Amino acid sequence: MSRDNLNINKIYEGDSISILKTFPDKSIDLIFADPPYNLQLKNELYRPNNTKVDGVYDSWDKFASFKDYDDFCISWLKECRRILKDSGTIWVIGSYHNIFRIGNIMLDLGFWILNDVIWHKTNPMPNFLGTRFTNATETLLWCSKGESYKKYKFNHKLMKRYNGGKQMTSVWNIGLCIGNERIKGADGKKAHSTQKPEELLKRVILSSTEINDIVLDPFFGTGTTGAVAKKLGRSFVGIERDANYIQIAQKRIDGILNLLPETEWIEESKEKQIKIPFANLVKENIIKSGEVLYTRKRYDKKAEVLENGFLKCENNIGSIHRIGALIQQTRSCNGWKFWYILKDRKPYLIDDIREHYIRSRYGL
Ligand SMILES: C[S@@+](CC[C@H](N)C(=O)[O-])C[C@H]1O[C@@H](n2cnc3c(N)ncnc32)[C@H](O)[C@@H]1O
Repeated sequence: MSRDNLNINKIYEGDSISILKTFPDKSIDLIFADPPYNLQLKNELYRPNNTKVDGVYDSWDKFASFKDYDDFCISWLKECRRILKDSGTIWVIGSYHNIFRIGNIMLDLGFWILNDVIWHKTNPMPNFLGTRFTNATETLLWCSKGESYKKYKFNHKLMKRYNGGKQMTSVWNIGLCIGNERIKGADGKKAHSTQKPEELLKRVILSSTEINDIVLDPFFGTGTTGAVAKKLGRSFVGIERDANYIQIAQKRIDGILNLLPETEWIEESKEKQIKIPFANLVKENIIKSGEVLYTRKRYDKKAEVLENGFLKCENNIGSIHRIGALIQQTRSCNGWKFWYILKDRKPYLIDDIREHYIRSRYGL
């Protein structure tokens, strides 16, 4: 098999293992892999109120046995190690279903774990049946090619700056991919069940590559890795076997016209770290006590803002999140993305009002 087939800024269609085998040795600077989780979901999950939980039921996530899954991972990880430059590193993300198997395989193949970064999801999906704790984390194993490969890239100073002057820890608090960032199909449903947040990829790529480096993602999905790589002035190579996802990813990447200058992405991260409680907006008179908030669904429910930052809706009083959850009869709700204010009959999401406030207050 010829090993000179490596086109940059291209999405290869097909099976990762076969395509990885065609790439030259030591040609890639960074690999980010978000492989199938092997969740082993036997049935669809339903909430107590009989609505279907939006989970990962896709055929790409199904393997006949643990052994099949392990064999699959051994094959693609072996190729990844071969094509990584000696200064390169690999990030593999997974949940408790697969990450321990993958960690074991990686160590057996010679990789050296540099960090196990915990992605702490700030808005996790509740455990609807109430049978376990809410699962709010995924793990990213960051590895060099081996113990003796010491000259891997790590932009320590940059990440410290990105983290507001403090050394970044291996716990990353980042929300699930929702709102405008989430790609939807024509039917308004999620285009992909496991689209990752760009913020996650930003940290991965910024910490372990330089401008113009080549970032490979062998399970490309909606192309989050390619999109962020492009924004940050890196090149990408993607592999994905589903033609529909490739189309979505290509359109997403083609739509990025401006690269994100360094100053801008540092500012963007600062902004994400500033958290303003709703009560502060009321205290500062940005949203006034006595004002009415409306829900997004045809604006048919309202709540009154109280002086202490709570909402009053009929006989219920609570936070923007609690009252939002009560209205929807769900266990949790991100009130910032749920409530609107009407100004001149136009709806404004309170999250946008908060963002606007942060920008003007902190000079961002
Ligand atoms: C967990 S998802 C990746 C999601 C992606 N990180 C994103 O942000 O959209 C895994 C992807 O790998 C693809 N996939 C699964 N097995 C594959 C294989 N053997 N070869 C190529 N792609 C595969 C699936 O179609 C799916 O889109």
